[in-house]
Amino acid sequence: MSVKSAKSEGVELKLPNKTIELPLRSGTLGPDVLDIKSLAPEGYFTYDPGFVSTASCESKITYIDGDQGILLYRGYPIEQLAEKSDFLEVAYLLLRGELPTVPEKTEFVSTLKQHTLVHQQIFNFFNGFRRDAHPMAIMVGVVGALSAFYHDALDINNPEHRETAALRLIAKMPTLAAMCYKYSVGLPFMYPQNDMGYAENFLHMMFATPSETTKPNPILSRAMDRIFILHADHEQNASTSTVRLAGSTGANPFACISAGIAALWGPAHGGANEACLNMLHEIGDVSQIGKYIEKAKDKSDPFRLMGFGHRVYKNYDPRAKIMRETCHEVLSELGLEDNPLFKLAMALEKIALEDDYFVSKKLYPNVDFYSGITLSALGIPTAMFTVIFALARTVGWISHWNEMVSAPDYKLGRPRQLYTGWPKRNYPAES
Ligand code: CMC
Repeated sequence: MSVKSAKSEGVELKLPNKTIELPLRSGTLGPDVLDIKSLAPEGYFTYDPGFVSTASCESKITYIDGDQGILLYRGYPIEQLAEKSDFLEVAYLLLRGELPTVPEKTEFVSTLKQHTLVHQQIFNFFNGFRRDAHPMAIMVGVVGALSAFYHDALDINNPEHRETAALRLIAKMPTLAAMCYKYSVGLPFMYPQNDMGYAENFLHMMFATPSETTKPNPILSRAMDRIFILHADHEQNASTSTVRLAGSTGANPFACISAGIAALWGPAHGGANEACLNMLHEIGDVSQIGKYIEKAKDKSDPFRLMGFGHRVYKNYDPRAKIMRETCHEVLSELGLEDNPLFKLAMALEKIALEDDYFVSKKLYPNVDFYSGITLSALGIPTAMFTVIFALARTVGWISHWNEMVSAPDYKLGRPRQLYTGWPKRNYPAES
């Protein structure tokens, strides 16, 4: 079998017995996509571990150009959104496709505020966990458990139900995330304050106590909001694809988002910001950077510089550029520029950006490098970093889930395989 020729309208594929034409589909932006749907009826599958050459779906939500370092949400560049918008406006945009008018935004925010509380019985779930449980383990459990509480809007074929489930998830994620933290340190849960902004309220639920409720610093609230914007969506990454795959079975949205949280937890994905901070603690001192850079280059050593490299961005990560600025703003606001950990991070960034190995392989600091440092400066414990990523990404996940479920031709996701195990063999005869 060989690919014979590429035509603008399709590609001829020579199979052993016949030649078929595979249509080429063009998107609004990005490379053309070869439509291989007709291969299976011919008795062939494609082989693409890690889905590096596979477009798993059609989507109108987010566009990435990894070579040029472009990220667009519904067509708007991430740089413009990070500067001019706020997280709830971005949430509206991702979910509904357009920026809201002022009355639309007011209505959206006020509806979300009606959903910020969680059912009081959810508190019991927390008590079932050990105090030292990883907060992502708790999040996988409690977000999945939401499906047991909100039976009134679980019909995935009903657009109003889907909308209600989406709003509930977006509104409740900060409450649940902050509860994870409060539980781990044995402090009382703080109720949401609906007169605060989304990020401000999250910082309030994280750090206020019933005996001390100072308003969060606006510069830090804005930094938190920016972290949420930058993590809100990222096309068909591992966790979003997980949400889509789970959703393709008809599973309810809370279960699907819980599956997404599980996929995000891994250190190659959302766990990288946590892994990055752990790595900085392991390196410990600027004098040790050289040793760790050598370890990262050594193929026989599994160590990698966490927070460097990206599957799609092979030039630079546009989110990292924005996050870097925010990171410096926060360090300066908090007077932390001379903190040894942050000095170490900045020295590592500089050395890696100049090192031949990293430069030639295009391994730039990614968004998680800077968001990890920023979150740490905000006083957020390392184990909570991926939870915050999950909180923000819930908007992207639920937008993709909704896009998939509302498409007229949505299908159960069911990849195939190249089987290399035993051929059929018989159970051993008794001796
Ligand atoms: N440190 C050292 N070497 C690296 C690193 C790194 N962080 N990342 C990639 N490489 C090397 C790798 O060893 C390979 O070398 P060679 O070609 O000689 O075999 C080459 O670069 C290509 O790496 P790859 O693993 O084939 O590339 P990938 O696209 O599959 O991996 C990645 C992308 C993000 C998994 C990887 O860069 C990595 O493990 N980075 C560290 C973890 C991290 O920061 N992840 C967060 C990604 S951003 C958050 C998100 O969007 O979810």
